[in-house]
Amino acid sequence: MYEAKDEEATKQFAFLLGQAAKAGDVVVLTGDLGAGKTTFSKGIAEGLGITQMIKSPTYTIIREYTQGRLPFYHMDVYRITTGYDDLGLDDYFEGDGLTVVEWGNQLGKWLPEDYLEVIIKKDPNDVAKRIIALAPHGEKGSALSVKLMKAWSEN
Ligand SMILES: Nc1ncnc2c1ncn2[C@@H]1O[C@H](COP(=O)(O)OP(=O)(O)O)[C@@H](O)[C@H]1O
Ligand SMILES: [Mg+2]
Repeated sequence: MYEAKDEEATKQFAFLLGQAAKAGDVVVLTGDLGAGKTTFSKGIAEGLGITQMIKSPTYTIIREYTQGRLPFYHMDVYRITTGYDDLGLDDYFEGDGLTVVEWGNQLGKWLPEDYLEVIIKKDPNDVAKRIIALAPHGEKGSALSVKLMKAWSEN
């Protein structure tokens, strides 16, 4: 578990994830509206070396950025409740980039077998603070989690 005292701390943690990620990694971001999923995604993008502005994909569902060390596939599936098959999710999950899915826990059976879930919670006593937990599912998710915790401890 990681306590991010402010937005910048959340981005710093996410930055390390962006640096640690490998092609084919999938990160699922879980947390309420305003928890910081898009903010976290911005940190990841920076860690990949993307300098372009990252916009929330709430309306576009999927945005792709190719400027960084790896292709970055940024999704928000909040508004999708059906028709997941039309999105061609597996092509992203099994692709050559890093896929980050806000509200990905909604995907149910459409989730990939292997991913790292990042759970972001607000602190009821501090508006600027977030509690961030890592829940790896599968080998790649675990490897990414271990690498991230190591980078964090050396940071
Ligand atoms: N420690 C923090 N980490 C992330 N966001 C924070 C933090 N403290 C305050 N915020 C604010 O919370 C909001 C998070 O919004 P956003 O990242 O769009 O959330 P989500 O994508 O989960 O709906 C932003 O306005 C951000 O400035
Ligand atoms: Mg968002």
